[in-house]
Amino acid sequence: MPTSVGLIGLGLMGRPMAANLLKAGFPLTVWNRTRAKADELAKDGARVAASPRDAAAAADVLLTIVSDPPALESVLWGADGALAGLRKGSILVDSSTVSPALARRIAAACAERGAEFLDAPVTGGTWGAEKGELVFMVGGEAAALERVRPVLEAMGKRFFHLGPHGAGQTVKLAMNLLLALEVGALAEAMALVGRAGVAPEKLVEVMQSSMARAAVLDIKAPMILRGEYAPSFPLRLMHKDLGLALELANQLGVPLPATAAAREVYNAVRGASSEDVDYAAVARFWEKP
Ligand SMILES: NC(=O)c1ccc[n+]([C@@H]2O[C@H](COP(=O)([O-])OP(=O)(O)OC[C@H]3O[C@@H](n4cnc5c(N)ncnc54)[C@H](OP(=O)(O)O)[C@@H]3O)[C@@H](O)[C@H]2O)c1
Repeated sequence: MPTSVGLIGLGLMGRPMAANLLKAGFPLTVWNRTRAKADELAKDGARVAASPRDAAAAADVLLTIVSDPPALESVLWGADGALAGLRKGSILVDSSTVSPALARRIAAACAERGAEFLDAPVTGGTWGAEKGELVFMVGGEAAALERVRPVLEAMGKRFFHLGPHGAGQTVKLAMNLLLALEVGALAEAMALVGRAGVAPEKLVEVMQSSMARAAVLDIKAPMILRGEYAPSFPLRLMHKDLGLALELANQLGVPLPATAAAREVYNAVRGASSEDVDYAAVARFWEKP
């Protein structure tokens, strides 16, 4: 019998991940808060569940990828939530970016029901999700990762086992802190150069040949130069991740002064944006009114 897979959350990331699971031949049951997105996948062979509980009951491996901690709590513990339907012996894999503390709480709830849990947030963006080239950062038992590896391989190319429950989310938050600061610093440097009368394109050219070179430049610098911010990784989610990193840092007593400042910059742009924008729109902070 092929492994049956459930997937809850068909946003920018979940939708292409589901498409790749279908392409790989896994029997797939999906649930999404906005039903229309699930119905689209039914045309490609997915079964649409009536509730998160129903999606869980149909799955050997259940994946969740929703916006934030309240969304994840709602699909797991809310009315007809997934935990109530989880099969004994199944594995819940959460790829949302949430707090390590919530990951550990879910692990305990799964253990009570005789199921296993992995926190497995991802990096690679929507293009990585579309190409099936996501990178998974995993916390939990190594043996559980081996059991779900064939499923994850339909969506990803690298799998880092980082430690016990919560370790995947810890590294993910550190990764996003880095990306937020990198793109914020890039935008800040471009604003300085532009205001001084030198084309920001020139700065990007020099950066590409220097120690300041980073992969985010390839994707985010053209967006900033064009001033076009169609969301790939929405700024509202990066703002959420900076908040989660600061929350963790506060619990641990680790000062993150640059992250705290960056969160204020992202917060200002979020507050001033009427539409959903990519986090490269942090560059709008330096636009003249
Ligand atoms: N986009 C990226 O490049 C990227 C990369 C790595 C990691 N991530 C992380 O992956 C997760 C999903 O990101 P995304 O870009 O796919 O986000 P998204 O496009 O905003 O999709 C969010 C998903 O969560 C669902 N949702 C939101 N609130 C909910 C609630 N209260 N109850 C039930 N479902 C709810 C949405 O349902 P509706 O369709 O009904 O709104 C949708 O399916 C986030 O944690 C994000 O930080 C994103």
